[in-house]
Amino acid sequence: MENKITSLAEYFQKYKESVADPDNFWGKIAESHYWRKKWDQILDYKFDGDGAPDVNWFVNGKLNITENIFERNMFMRKDQVAIIWEPNDPKEPEIKLTYGELFEKVKQFANGLKKIGVEKGDRVALYLPMVPELAIAMLACARIGAIHSIVFAGFSATALADRINDAEAKVVITSDGGFRGTKSIPLKSIADEAVEKCPSIKTQVVLKRTEEEIKWVDGRDIWWHDLIADMDYENQAETMDAEDVLFILYTSGSTGKPKGVVHTTAGYMVYAEYTFKNVFQYSDGDVYWCTADIGWVTGHSYIVYGPLLTGATSVMFEGVPTWPDAGRFWEIVDKYKINQFYTAPTAIRALVAQGDEWVTKHDLSSLKVLGTVGEPINEEAWRWYHDLVGKGRCPIVDTWWQTETGGIMITPLAGITPTKPSLATLPLPGVQPVLLDHEGKELKGNSVEGILCMKHPWPGMLRTTWGDHQRCYQTYFASFPGYYLTGDGAKRDEEGYYRIIGRIDDVINVSGHRIGTAEVEDAINQHPKVVESAVVGYPHEIKGAGIYAYVICEDMTDAELDNIEAEIKATVNKFIGPIAKPDKIQIVSGLPKTRSGKIMRRILRKIGEGDATNLGDTSTLLDPGVVEEIIDGAKVEV
Ligand code: WTA
Repeated sequence: MENKITSLAEYFQKYKESVADPDNFWGKIAESHYWRKKWDQILDYKFDGDGAPDVNWFVNGKLNITENIFERNMFMRKDQVAIIWEPNDPKEPEIKLTYGELFEKVKQFANGLKKIGVEKGDRVALYLPMVPELAIAMLACARIGAIHSIVFAGFSATALADRINDAEAKVVITSDGGFRGTKSIPLKSIADEAVEKCPSIKTQVVLKRTEEEIKWVDGRDIWWHDLIADMDYENQAETMDAEDVLFILYTSGSTGKPKGVVHTTAGYMVYAEYTFKNVFQYSDGDVYWCTADIGWVTGHSYIVYGPLLTGATSVMFEGVPTWPDAGRFWEIVDKYKINQFYTAPTAIRALVAQGDEWVTKHDLSSLKVLGTVGEPINEEAWRWYHDLVGKGRCPIVDTWWQTETGGIMITPLAGITPTKPSLATLPLPGVQPVLLDHEGKELKGNSVEGILCMKHPWPGMLRTTWGDHQRCYQTYFASFPGYYLTGDGAKRDEEGYYRIIGRIDDVINVSGHRIGTAEVEDAINQHPKVVESAVVGYPHEIKGAGIYAYVICEDMTDAELDNIEAEIKATVNKFIGPIAKPDKIQIVSGLPKTRSGKIMRRILRKIGEGDATNLGDTSTLLDPGVVEEIIDGAKVEV
């Protein structure tokens, strides 16, 4: 397989080359892609100064990413399975789509999108369960040059509406509902509620999945099957500029509403394919499974784009790890003889808690590589994964990256880089991490700890935040001019291996999902009885971090007080979705604030962790007494 590193010596060699001459390094890799017109220049960029960031890869190159998935792979792989879809309910039959079949479906749906007036550059919101049509819709958008904005199907109507409005999407694609374990989620009715507040939406395409009753708006709603009924399979891919937007994906930051991270065509493509085949050491004929939802970046890059560009067989799973029983993952591994398996530490911890027998009763001998993503993996979970699931013979790739990075950045190469539990190890070729101190000085050498930044662009990096370029600069480039700020703290150990410590900002990683504290506070504050709130993360055995909300309310009757927690949770559910519901809510009479009115979250975090020692200097607080009260009423043993 082209551009696949096969030994540690080769990794070090490539790494060196990639730093010495990044243009040449990436240029050679991009040669293996299919271009309508080659680039004039490999990289033109600035991280600072007027209009920054301004990052252009493969300048003036012309291409279409779907031609690199289909036309480029078709000769060899027409009859090879591209996607294996495993339904929520094991009793329902699976679906296998070959590259040839998937291609036809993509072209057909692309023609359907054109018929309803979707043009190059238009935004299309996707609010779908994990069904093959989600991948088909993404690729159909890419085929015609429309920008997809996928919204995880666990988000609420308000969250969906916010995202649609920010991107001014013309079309939303949803389904009547979606299955998850024993639940059926009424996606169409949630989308209906959202779309009422979205003037830009002209058409709502509805896929039939759960067959539940839905409301119908004539003239706006159209069934997926009706839309494609008389569409043919011929479709010429739109010619895209290397820097034309491929997709927007919303993610949480420290402040304000989620921002639309923008990825463009050529750089993302080159990076997704290169990282996929190298990190997982995918070989022809392997069956690869990433358990993420396509609503998150992991699903974008490592269920759809990376694997399909590589010509891999990628498994897509609709359900949950614990239904019908806690052996579901391992049953699927056995069923399809999975070779590479990629999941999140939170899923591993949840399964550890269910007992070993769910693992040992399935044949996992096909596994060659195990991967994790989304949050630091604790050593106990790593050992269980390594020893019980991988039987000690499968390398674990602990992959560090972000929505903004487009693809994996710091990681072992499976079976090549010697691993250490809980360490993401070494940067991929082309990735130049640095650790900075608070003054922005680079910490050189090993055995240092600091703020993780990148000092050179890589092809998969974000280009802007949708509709607000200044916000992109402020968030990622303003703190340390000339560097991309990741928002994570990290250690470089004595060998030069990286250990990711976690977020240094007000982002909480709940079950590997990024939640901004400000977003949750805004949602809580929508409750009519709430005066003010402060949200922090606290260590949670399964989720990694849980959400702890300290809330000041107006005077309430006893009856109101009894219900307030449930109501606050319902409010968060309504404004964001179940993933952001606080695990702990403490009603307080005041919050620890400085004289200038800033909430001292550090103190709240400490209390949430159950540690009241070492609260630091509280003398600058407006009302130091409030800290005692919060400790007394804390929802943990302090
Ligand atoms: C965290 C997910 C430790 C980190 C692909 C990062 C990790 C955030 C790891 C991005 C890892 C991701 N070890 N922490 N292997 N992978 N993170 O945008 O805090 O949903 O900044 O992208 O997850 O989350 P996001």
